[in-house]
Amino acid sequence: MQKQQIRKGFSKLNKDQKIDLTASYFEHPAKAASQLRSFWHDDPDIQKKLDEFSENTISNFFFPYGIAPNFVINGNMYLVPMVIEESSVIAAASNAAKFWSERGGFHAEVISMTKIGQVHFIWKGDLKKLQEAMPELKERLIDETNAITENMRKRGGGITDIELIDMSDSIDNYYQLKASFETADSMGANFINSCLEEFGVQLKRFLKEDKRFRGKEEECEIVMAILSNYTPGCLVKTWVECNIDEFSEMDRSMSAMEFANKFERAVRIAQQDTYRATTHNKGIMNGIDAVVLATGNDFRAIEACAHTYAARNGRYSSLTDISLENGKFRYTLTVPLAMGTVGGLTSLHPLAKFSLELLNNPEAEQLMMIAASVGLANNFSALKSLTTKGIQVGHMKMHLFNILNHIGVTNEEKERVIDYFKDKKVSFSKVKELVGRMRKTNS
Ligand code: MEV
Repeated sequence: MQKQQIRKGFSKLNKDQKIDLTASYFEHPAKAASQLRSFWHDDPDIQKKLDEFSENTISNFFFPYGIAPNFVINGNMYLVPMVIEESSVIAAASNAAKFWSERGGFHAEVISMTKIGQVHFIWKGDLKKLQEAMPELKERLIDETNAITENMRKRGGGITDIELIDMSDSIDNYYQLKASFETADSMGANFINSCLEEFGVQLKRFLKEDKRFRGKEEECEIVMAILSNYTPGCLVKTWVECNIDEFSEMDRSMSAMEFANKFERAVRIAQQDTYRATTHNKGIMNGIDAVVLATGNDFRAIEACAHTYAARNGRYSSLTDISLENGKFRYTLTVPLAMGTVGGLTSLHPLAKFSLELLNNPEAEQLMMIAASVGLANNFSALKSLTTKGIQVGHMKMHLFNILNHIGVTNEEKERVIDYFKDKKVSFSKVKELVGRMRKTNS
């Protein structure tokens, strides 16, 4: 039941009042309130921490936390934590991890770690003068942010470049200060944004104080100062390789070469067709997002960036590439992943901290390689299924559990239903019908 009125001051209420008010929207408020409270953590200190991550918090929303074992990446073995609600994803990652662990594992390298931020500004003046003044302006921007960058410089990061970008062809009098940053093991959003906001202040002062600028040239409008979540310079590559004849057991109806050729065609289709590319990349992000979430990183940033990168050549395309040469299969994923292992939620969220410990407290580069490898594993499993038995057999088996939980069955019924669908296609209506039949016979 929706109450059609603007609610003022919700944020000022205490947590119990927020719960009561929210519960009052339900037919049975006491039941709704108790349901919300039932998902609180037993330890009030941990619950307080969770509450403070966000605003107007009244409960926790649980997602499954699972493990994909046997990930061999650059010779190291990992149990990878994954947070994901979709059935089959962890199973798919685990299957691929096991398969590749017996074939040299995943190979991965970080190509670069650069992040970008921009000060977008409107300025009416002689561009040549600003271009000439850039060396001094740059020095000033670096000097005036020394206090902000001090710690980051100690950790090997900092501001690595600042460029003036002329965008006045697209919007009248529009320019950017485009800065590059290295943020060591942190994702670095706060650090970058603090530097950028200071750049905005200093740019305004510089234009006022430098004698080269006169009249309207002394003024500029800082439209905004913010990092870019597009980080093509924070790039990781991961790949698997084996002799094609190792695929002889992939499918009874196909030779190893036939399987490899069909797999390659599936990748080429994702490179050419945007509709397929989107789903292909979604399958990669199933794995990446699950690791990103488990380690307390920002999955919205990771998603936005990956898809922009997939469209970098003007057409949305696959993030993976394949080669079948000289009897060798090599399958590669290249993706920008601005992930951190310090700062943000990484140490505040108890399970994010746990995940990082489980991964042996990796540096950001290692975490990027792990997440990318899981993405490639999920995609490999998806293509393997799609090009052989199809996705539904495995998918619906896992989905069967969700259907059974939804219908609400006893353990005995569950076992009988699972057994019945061992060699049959699963659908919601068929499961419901079977459970109904079983209950009728039993009554
Ligand atoms: C489902 O979450 C992901 C897949 O659709 C990916 C793909 O089609 O490659 C199986």
